[in-house]
Formats: sequence, C-alpha cells, structure tokens
Amino acid sequence: MKNVVIVGTQWGDEGKGKITDFLAQTADVVVRYQGGNNAGHTVIFDNQKYSLHLLPSGILNAKIDNVMANGMVINPKALIEELTKVKDHKLYISNRAHVVLPYHQALDRAYDRANKIGTTNKGIGPAYTDKAARQGLRMADFINPPKFYQFLKETLPIKNKLLTELGEQPFVLETLYNEYKDYAKQIEKYVIDTSQFLNQKIVENKKILFEGAQGVLLCLDHGTYPYVTSSSPTAASVPINTGIAPWLLEGAVGVTKAYTTRVGEGPFPSEIEGELANEIRTVGKEFGTTTGRPRRIGWLDTVVLRHSKRASGLSSLAVTLLDVLTGIDEIKVVKDYTFNGKTIDYIPANIDEFKACKPNYITLKGWQEDITQVKTYADLPANTKIYLKTISEMVDIPISIFSVGADRNQTILIEPIFKED
Ligand code: GDP
Ligand code: IMO
Ligand code: MG
Repeated sequence: MKNVVIVGTQWGDEGKGKITDFLAQTADVVVRYQGGNNAGHTVIFDNQKYSLHLLPSGILNAKIDNVMANGMVINPKALIEELTKVKDHKLYISNRAHVVLPYHQALDRAYDRANKIGTTNKGIGPAYTDKAARQGLRMADFINPPKFYQFLKETLPIKNKLLTELGEQPFVLETLYNEYKDYAKQIEKYVIDTSQFLNQKIVENKKILFEGAQGVLLCLDHGTYPYVTSSSPTAASVPINTGIAPWLLEGAVGVTKAYTTRVGEGPFPSEIEGELANEIRTVGKEFGTTTGRPRRIGWLDTVVLRHSKRASGLSSLAVTLLDVLTGIDEIKVVKDYTFNGKTIDYIPANIDEFKACKPNYITLKGWQEDITQVKTYADLPANTKIYLKTISEMVDIPISIFSVGADRNQTILIEPIFKED
C-alpha cells in the first residue's frame, strides 16, 4: 500500500492531524484534499503544539512534500498567517483550488443567523456554493492581478447587494483588491498543477497520505444533512479532489475517537450531559481547535462507524484518545437504535427520524490503570484490550493504530499502514 487516505469516521476532531503527522514520518507526500480553515488539526511533539487549519499535517516534517489540492477552499490571509508558524517546508498549492474571500465569511455569518447549522464562520459553505455556481475564484486567476481585479469588478456588486439585504457591511472593491493582491503575490510561488505533481509522484512509487478534514458524518452527501459541512471528507472524494485515478487508492485509515464529540448543531443520539460529560470534556480538552467552542460529548456509536465504513470504505481503524476513558467504571457503546418501536442499524436520511432514534447500548467494564506510557498493544490493561477488540468486532474492521495521549510518541502502530509491494 502506497496511497492511503486518513478519514475521520465521526463528526470531526477524531485526531486526524495527529495520526497524519505520525504516519508522515514514513511518507513522502501529504495531501489535504477538501475543506478549508474550518478544520483544526492539532499536532504535538517535542513539547510544541501546532494548530493547523489549512496546511497539511505533514508540514512539520521538512523532508516531505505537502500538497493543498484542488478540492480545498483556501483563505489566503489565514494561510499566510499559518505559514509564519512553520519553518522549513515544501508546499504546493493547486491552481484549481478555490479562494475564500471576506464576503464568503460575511455570507456564512448571515446564513447561519437565518438557518442555524453552527458553522465555524470561515466562509466554507458560501465558497463551495460559488464553486458549484461557477462564480468562484480559482488560485490560477487569483495570482493573475488583472484577472483578479476583473473578477472582483464583476462579482462584488452582486455580493454587496446580497450582503446589504442580509444586514452585513458591503466591501469596497479597491480596498479588498489592494489587500488581497498582496496575499496573492506571497502565495504565487507555491501554486502549481498539483494533479500533475501527484501523478508524477505515483509514477516514482512514492508513499502518499491523503489527509481528510472533518468526518464522514459531516459529509455533504453522506453526513447528517443539513448539519454538515460543504465538502466530502470520504475516501471516495479523494480522486476528484486531487486529480488522481480512483483505483490508485489502496486503503483508508478511519480515525476514530474512543468516544464521540460533535461541535455545532444537529442530532447526536449517544450524547451525554452532566458531570461525566464535563469530566470527559476537561480530560480530553474537548474545545474546538478552530472556534474554541466546547465540544458536545457522547459514547462511541458503532452505527455511525458502520455507516462511515460503508460510505467511505475503511481498511483499518486508528482509535484515539483512549487514555481519556481511563477511570470510568462502565463504558457504553451504541450497538443499534430504536426508531418507531423497531431496532434499526442505519442512519435515517430524514433528519427528524434521526433525531427520534434512541440508542441501544452494550456496557463494558472500564480500566483504572494509567495507559499514557503504554508502548505496545500487549502492555494495555485487559479491559482496554477488550474495549478495542469489541469495537473492532462490532464494526468488523481491524485496528491498525491506537493512541494514548496527544503527543506524537503516544501513538502505537499495531499493523503497518504503508506496505511494500
Ligand atoms: P482532528 O481535527 O481530527 O485533527 O482532531 P483535533 O486536533 O481537532 O482534536 C483532537 C484533539 O485530541 C487534539 O487536542 C489532540 O491534541 C488530542 N489528541 C489526539 N490524540 C489523542 C490521544 O490519544 N489522547 C489525548 N488525550 N489527546 C489526543
Ligand atoms: P476537523 O477537520 C469538527 C462542523 C461545524 C458545523 C458544521 C458546518 O478539525 O475535524 P462549516 O464551517 O464547515 O460550514 O460548519 O461542520 N465542522 C467541524 N466539526 N471538526 C471539524 O474539522 C469541522 N469542520 C466543520 O462545527 O457543525
Ligand atoms: Mg479538529
């Protein structure tokens, strides 16, 4: 296996950044394929914490290539800010990626006021809307000043009209242009045809990691619509979002938090509240990397995991934040739902039906031992092993990685991800 995807299997924040950074040490290229700075991927090593939003989580490894592919929507100002926080790097940005402009953010705010999804307010939905409506700005045109000016001249009056109607401030063309053309100048050197670049790397037999943002339940198609993001984090979206052939993908690692979290609105059957939720939130530091919002907490839900497996294809699981469950006497895991008096094992497409689903649990004994220094699977307490084994059996996927702390070193590889032919 040389071309492997890292996919979030829940509602985001599963630890994709950490797993990507860990695997990047043995990869040649890391590619972010969708989303924008709505993502917040935390990487910790050598007592340093990095919060990455746009940059691929391989960026902290000076030796490897990092690609921001055509499926991304990129806020240039945020990207430049983020670049100041990383040192040596090899970065390539797709000339087909779309640009997030300040009016996208203003529209995001206005739309979320009217129809609350609880977005990250980074302009992601409006930027993808413009892409689909063929009213977006691509990197290739952004870095061409006359093209960029012409684009704003044609587009801004329409956006301003809409913004004024929605109670937001309009933008002044010259001010916006002057500020953003400087950003374009700084970014220009990174912009290439990344599909060509990646296909060349494939010819050279390089190991490529595709890093998803968000999670399958936030997928525009397979998530809990409308409480989703505006792109597809699934493995299936990699080819179109990067410009490689579908059959070149050889595996998908489903990053799975040992429990569940969700930020923003939307149904969450296994959600727990009260003292235990607060405890897990505190121990797991469950506050958004992007917005700082407290994350909602729930038990692990295997209906969600089987849905992700089906919709995205998962060859193995990376189970993260296992240490956060230490000390809990009894751990629950959702096995199926009851809906309208019937037992079901799927996520209804109708959001009101999903809201009405009541989770059915199995209960497992917890463990009291500190597992944060564990280095091998064999070292885990018996009940932790049972927990992992139960998850693996309930979802019918092997576990390739587990993690017992936020640091890069607290990641344990059970099965190699990159396999030589
Ligand atoms: P991502 O969006 O999927 O990359 O995940 P985030 O970085 O938003 O959220 C995961 C959080 O869990 C971050 O604060 C990580 O530092 C932290 N984390 C990752 N793995 C572990 C783990 O095994 N144990 C603990 N305690 N924290 C972890
Ligand atoms: P990472 O990559 C968790 C959620 C938002 C909101 C919904 C739509 O760090 O896992 P958007 O701004 O995308 O239009 O918001 O999706 N959301 C995330 N939740 N982790 C993320 O990314 C998220 N990106 C978006 O909270 O509910
Ligand atoms: Mg995150």
